[in-house]
Amino acid sequence: MKRLTIQIRVRRESYDVEVGSGLLVNSRPLSLETPTGRCLIVSNRKVFGLYGQKLLGKLGELGIEPGVYLIGDGERFKSLRTVEAIVRSMSDAKLGRDGCVIALGGGVVGDVAGFAASVHLRGVRLIQIPTTLLAMIDSSVGGKTGVNTVHGKNMIGTFYQPAHVLIDTDVLATLPQREITAGLCEAIKHGALAGPDLFERTTKVLDSNSQDRRLTEVDGLEDLIINQLRFKASIVAADAKEDPAGCGAASRKILNFGHTFGHALEKSTKYKVFKHGEAVGWGMLFAAELSKKLELADNTVVELLNDVVRRSGSLPPIGSTNVRPEDILDAIRFDKKSAGEDTQWILLRAIGQPVIVPQSEVPSNLLRSVLKDFVRHRSNS
Ligand code: NAD
Ligand code: GLY
Repeated sequence: MKRLTIQIRVRRESYDVEVGSGLLVNSRPLSLETPTGRCLIVSNRKVFGLYGQKLLGKLGELGIEPGVYLIGDGERFKSLRTVEAIVRSMSDAKLGRDGCVIALGGGVVGDVAGFAASVHLRGVRLIQIPTTLLAMIDSSVGGKTGVNTVHGKNMIGTFYQPAHVLIDTDVLATLPQREITAGLCEAIKHGALAGPDLFERTTKVLDSNSQDRRLTEVDGLEDLIINQLRFKASIVAADAKEDPAGCGAASRKILNFGHTFGHALEKSTKYKVFKHGEAVGWGMLFAAELSKKLELADNTVVELLNDVVRRSGSLPPIGSTNVRPEDILDAIRFDKKSAGEDTQWILLRAIGQPVIVPQSEVPSNLLRSVLKDFVRHRSNS
């Protein structure tokens, strides 16, 4: 059994992320990290149905009988209402300050459970057990928690680092293909930001995955996850709370590459059409087009990104949604205005060379025309 560990450092604290096959059954660290107090597993019906018994069995061996709270499945359950219900169930279960929340699921479960753990009694221990590729390489580490509001995605949340992250790659065997594509898009995002080494490692996995092999059988999957996490950890270590004034390539803001367009696409289609990672896939392609039109990047970057995103799987066509360029523009403006921020675009000069460009440096007629072309062109794909 292959088992790799990476330590994430945030300010003076650190936590381990363990990656390997079969860890949910064989995990020693979960036992070491389990506190003396009560535990609550937060998951959803689907994931708990698949992996809940394994986790309960493991905890049972350690003499722990956790409570279980299942949230609804999907982005629309990433809400304050869900957080309130989880916190209520923590109080019902008498989960004290020595207690622990175990988030078993994808990014939605992780973000909501993480938020609830960060506010219950001003913070209880959180263990993340991510079960989607996206959550493994991105959302379970770095400490961003949050929920959506009418004003946009992740408008309310906290920075709250987990005490431990356990990644059992075996659970990817049941992940639907669309979710794999969504996770691969976030992996491409990290590769495009980090540079040629991570970009190439990521593309190799894309190719193995597209040859109809299960992701769990892909050589070097654990290594890829670790390398992805290493990159994310380096950014988080330098700028854990995403300093609003940050403007250089070391700012955590760069991890939002593809997100300005992606979030607007998700929101203007009411979170019903695109998986988050799929929207980020479109968002990266849009950012590449904008980089080219602003003469920051040449066509090579555009072609390269189009090629790798295509190889990650098919994205739902934007044209199937009737979304209009103005809807996306409105969603971008509304999102940022509500946060009291100006829009900043994360663009690319080349692979490994992100640049943060304020909206004031993007002529509005150029933005409109790129948006119009992009939405029209992608409608025909
Ligand atoms: P998700 O949590 O909705 O999970 C996707 C689907 O896969 C769900 O239907 C889920 O039930 C199912 N599923 C999960 N694990 C499974 C498994 N092993 N087998 C079969 N089915 C499984 O989506 P996601 O892509 O994991 O996460 C997206 C969310 O993450 C978004 O809300 C996004 O904003 C957030 N996110 C947060 C951060 C962060 O830093 N906190 C980073 C990136 C994304
Ligand atoms: N996924 C963006 C971040 O963690 O900052």
